[in-house]
Amino acid sequence: MKLTYFGHSACLLETASHKLLFDPFLSDNPLCDVKPEDIQCDYILLTHGHADHFGDTEVIAKANDATVICNYELSSFCGSKGLKTHPMHIGGGHDFDFGRVKLTIAHHGSSYPGPDGLPIYLGEPAGILVKADNRTFLHAGDTGLFLDMQLIGEMNDIDLAMLPIGDNFTMGADDAVKAVEYLKPKRVVPCHYNTFPPIECDPKDFAAKIDDSPLVCEVHVLGSSESVEF
Ligand code: NI
Ligand code: MN
Repeated sequence: MKLTYFGHSACLLETASHKLLFDPFLSDNPLCDVKPEDIQCDYILLTHGHADHFGDTEVIAKANDATVICNYELSSFCGSKGLKTHPMHIGGGHDFDFGRVKLTIAHHGSSYPGPDGLPIYLGEPAGILVKADNRTFLHAGDTGLFLDMQLIGEMNDIDLAMLPIGDNFTMGADDAVKAVEYLKPKRVVPCHYNTFPPIECDPKDFAAKIDDSPLVCEVHVLGSSESVEF
């Protein structure tokens, strides 16, 4: 399995048979070096509805005839734009042709700006677990630290977790280290940092905190279009 990062929370997970695009905030993402039209994918998975995650979903889904997998309320929003969707919700799993997806809790918001500028609320935010090719991937979404991460780590042998470290809107580095303790992933890719001034941080500080701890976890700090195979 191969994960390619595009900055912020956007990434492409390639299984043996399919390409899964997560939170494709590309054209307005100052850290991203690819254009929406350069992306090929079979599915788009959305952790929540915020614009820095929904991003270029509409244009990429239409260009690729891709199915959007996300929570029910956000899938209804996608459906209103003419997109193919597979609605799910927290705690539910489903077997797709590439593997199994399960939505986990995330403590955050999930809305999209409406025509009057007021937020359209789009259900609960989620983390997304993918099991395929005998590997387990967790995209934690935007979230604060929560103790149920222990349960997610106990029930899933996570090979790679994408965890937000940028603080302000999500976990900062110290809480993300605690999340690694709870989730016990073999590898972690930090995300959701340095995109905007309020979430500026040095991911090397997070990596150093993991190195200085008793935790056994490889930290992969990726630039846009950089990949890790696992
Ligand atoms: Ni968000
Ligand atoms: Mn966000």
